Amino acid sequence: MYERELEATAAAMVAKGKGLLAIDESAPTCKKRFDSISVESTVENRRAYRELLITVPGAAQFISGMILFDETIRQSAADGTPFPAALKHQGILTGIKVDAGAKKLAGAPGEKVTEGLDGLRERLVEYRGMGASFAKWRAVITIGERIPSPYCLDANAHALARYAALCQEAGLVPVVEPEVLMDGKHTIERCFEATEATLRCVFNALYLQRVALEHMVLKASMVISGSECPKRAGVEEVAKQTLLCLKRAVPAAVPGIVFLSGGQGAEEATAHLNAMNLMGPHPWPLSFSYGRALQEPALKTWRGQSANVATAQKALYHREKMNSAACSGRYTVQMEQEKVAA
Ligand code: 13P
Repeated sequence: MYERELEATAAAMVAKGKGLLAIDESAPTCKKRFDSISVESTVENRRAYRELLITVPGAAQFISGMILFDETIRQSAADGTPFPAALKHQGILTGIKVDAGAKKLAGAPGEKVTEGLDGLRERLVEYRGMGASFAKWRAVITIGERIPSPYCLDANAHALARYAALCQEAGLVPVVEPEVLMDGKHTIERCFEATEATLRCVFNALYLQRVALEHMVLKASMVISGSECPKRAGVEEVAKQTLLCLKRAVPAAVPGIVFLSGGQGAEEATAHLNAMNLMGPHPWPLSFSYGRALQEPALKTWRGQSANVATAQKALYHREKMNSAACSGRYTVQMEQEKVAA
């Protein structure tokens, strides 16, 4: 019943030169980020920080949508404008994280399954009423000794597909995010194997559960060496292996793929996206849905001080602009200097 709307939303999310800004950290994750700048994680500090991220002047040239957390979608800017309305005013779509986090998977030591399906239908209706047009659910896949197991892949794919089907029923575009974690010593080859197995399992579950691939967006992790791998693959290799893996496992019917940054440095994440887009054309637009890689410089500049808001917003604007350029392979390291001039 929402086919036209879902198609238009998905197309807008991955429109040329645009990507998503993920600001959907749960309260415990937000506390971790605030601890790194010695700011207390109070409701008001989280609200003030989210206002900074949401109100960057000119961001809509580069950002199609922002992913909010339940607390944030209910909050307002200092002038009283609810955040979804503040986004709409700029022409930016509101997205909402709807999973309840990754929990220990029974009978599978070291592995997790994402929870949050209970009551999801009702919550989706509420979020749509609040102005959301897309949603996000993140599954977490860990690489380690003899893991990921087929059981873990299957449990997570099943939940992702049930979530996606419910989203489409409610008129929200599901962002389907199976994140293969970068944590560990593993090689890029092991990451390739785990990512291919994960994606094949996810798309099989989406098919079984009658999810329209045309009305979703895939949020993928890159095929990359583990963060503690003694010999980490370079930018070209990450781009090549990620593309090969995606081409094997992701149907061309999917309207777009956005990447998470997963602990990559801000400039590293931009360079990887740029390298992939230079190797195009591809069956889908490749864009970004970064959290840390977009926010990090702004977070460090802000440090909880209202006097730093304008400078922090400039830092975020710069990263948004760099990643927008990377969507069409136009990013160069020299462009990083622009921020000094700005
Ligand atoms: P990172 O880019 O920091 O990995 O966050 C993106 C995200 O939304 C993870 O679910």
